[in-house]
Amino acid sequence: MSTFTVCLNPLPKSSVCQVDFGTELSGLDLENLSDMDFGILHKALYENQVVVIKNQKSLSPHAQYELTRRFDPSAGIYSHGKSIDKRSVLHADLTTIPHQPQVQVIGSGSVDEYEGLVKLKLKHPHHKAFHKHPISAEDDAEFTHFYRWHIDSAMYNLDPPLITSLLAVQVPQGRRQTLCYDDGTNTELDVPLGTTAFFSGYRLYEMLTDEEKYFVRTSKIEYAPHPYIWMSKAKSRSNGLGIVSEGLELSMDGLPQFEDSKIKIYPMAWKNPVTGKLAMMVYPTCVRKIHLENGEVLDDLVEIRERLYSLQRRAIDPQFVYPHDWKEGDLVLFNNHGVMHSIVGSFKEDEVRVFRQCNMAASRPPMGPGDSLPAQ
Ligand SMILES: [Fe+2]
Repeated sequence: MSTFTVCLNPLPKSSVCQVDFGTELSGLDLENLSDMDFGILHKALYENQVVVIKNQKSLSPHAQYELTRRFDPSAGIYSHGKSIDKRSVLHADLTTIPHQPQVQVIGSGSVDEYEGLVKLKLKHPHHKAFHKHPISAEDDAEFTHFYRWHIDSAMYNLDPPLITSLLAVQVPQGRRQTLCYDDGTNTELDVPLGTTAFFSGYRLYEMLTDEEKYFVRTSKIEYAPHPYIWMSKAKSRSNGLGIVSEGLELSMDGLPQFEDSKIKIYPMAWKNPVTGKLAMMVYPTCVRKIHLENGEVLDDLVEIRERLYSLQRRAIDPQFVYPHDWKEGDLVLFNNHGVMHSIVGSFKEDEVRVFRQCNMAASRPPMGPGDSLPAQ
């Protein structure tokens, strides 16, 4: 058993912030976590969705993997499978640790050596490669966008990881950026450089009208096969919440071979396995169809995207977004079936950042509104 006292503390937030999730947990020895302490961590994660544990710089990749897997002991392979197709938009962003393939190195800049990898060139995804209307090059140091609101997931063949862990190994400090929504609202958010931003799918569901809730509770989303290849030519809205519809998605004939049985159809509302609450969890970038309660299938992409956007946009209003201010050694664990998140920001060449990400394709699909809670 831990010799420390485990403490839960609210995360630092701005005065306008109405974020109702996230906690800092201290007093856990993550390399030697007892079942009782893991129980505390598990409960904290599913009640708070985002858990920050400070001062974990020395956590080994193996310990990070073991900790992450403990939330889903039957899971084993990285969330995007053993290798990522070169045509996928994710291909450039991830470097696998050779001795722990479920753990990826992500970040920005040149690193001579890290965990058996040499001469690493890390590339932080920049919204200019993905957004229809990126921030201009002159303004790039000062202003930025949410890159892409997402759920960590292949969304084809493999189920979304239950949780993701992110460890900040090296973090350039001090610079902040102004995040512009550029979605017709003039909304801005002051963010730490390279923040990871989160919103709660539970809060989003709560904010829906009764009619919207009914639609979300009773409908299902069909995701595209090989979605990151399917949408690889399409461009994002400036607030990162889905694609601008220009007909740029690849045709089914243009995709690598796929099997219908591996296409993912998930509820729009995912149930928290501990609290039983419902979260609206829809990854708009990868959506291809909506299946209604009466069996009707909506496949007009323009209409579907508009409908989803009108539901989800309220969740990213600044008061509902938690932008984590990364410090070296921060380990963040999040409920990937309950919050959505986005990469943010653009680094200068000398601003080197090194992170480790770990998640594994889940051993089960997300729980829908009709599923009963597992025994705890
Ligand atoms: Fe992610």
